[in-house]
Amino acid sequence: MFSMSSSLRALIFDLDGVITDTAEFHFLAWRRLAEEEGIPFTREDNEALRGVSRRESLNRMLKGRAIDEATAQAWMERKNSYYLAYLETITPEHRLPGVMRLLDAARLAGMRLGIASASKNARRVLDKLGLLEAFDAIGDGYSVVNPKPAPDLFVWVAGRLAVSPQQAVVFEDAEAGIEAARSGGFWTVGIGAATRGLAHLHYDSMAEVSLEAVTRQLAAG
Ligand code: BG6
Ligand code: MG
Repeated sequence: MFSMSSSLRALIFDLDGVITDTAEFHFLAWRRLAEEEGIPFTREDNEALRGVSRRESLNRMLKGRAIDEATAQAWMERKNSYYLAYLETITPEHRLPGVMRLLDAARLAGMRLGIASASKNARRVLDKLGLLEAFDAIGDGYSVVNPKPAPDLFVWVAGRLAVSPQQAVVFEDAEAGIEAARSGGFWTVGIGAATRGLAHLHYDSMAEVSLEAVTRQLAAG
């Protein structure tokens, strides 16, 4: 099992699917592009895109179809323009239930807070949610070269927060994110169905997370 070698000092959050739910907007934007290009793309197909980079999302959407680099760039730009239009509709009401309670409790406990998102639009999303100032460090799709499941983004954010991986817990809704955090040596809390059985702790939703329970269970091992 696991136990904490030192006290918990930071919480690091994935953004899409943990702080807010933009997966539907990503889906609608990819589906529009896919339809325009005559590629079948279902809601189920979209599950495989959860948490991975824009480039990897395109690869998975193509399912082996070959396109040249200029076309790939143009398609990613087009998908992003559709996605940006959806982002305009986001407000602070789109914070997932339980998020503010957890952030407030962590602040009261003196913890540092970080975001580690694969998205190049993470700052825009946080701004629309009214949460740009709520975090001490924001890692996004521009911060590191190797995307999740490489551990680099979480390590980058932990460095900005001046904590070691063993002093931080990562909240993630995607398999690639849990794999990234675990290989970086972080404690992990999985949120939702895709992370069941993969993380140190698991909750069906952020609304069920309690800082006290997470701290106690990680300490108990
Ligand atoms: C992740 C999402 O946070 O960001 C993925 O879970 C998305 O679905 C990825 O593809 C990249 O996002 P963006 O905004 O840079 O296209
Ligand atoms: Mg996510």
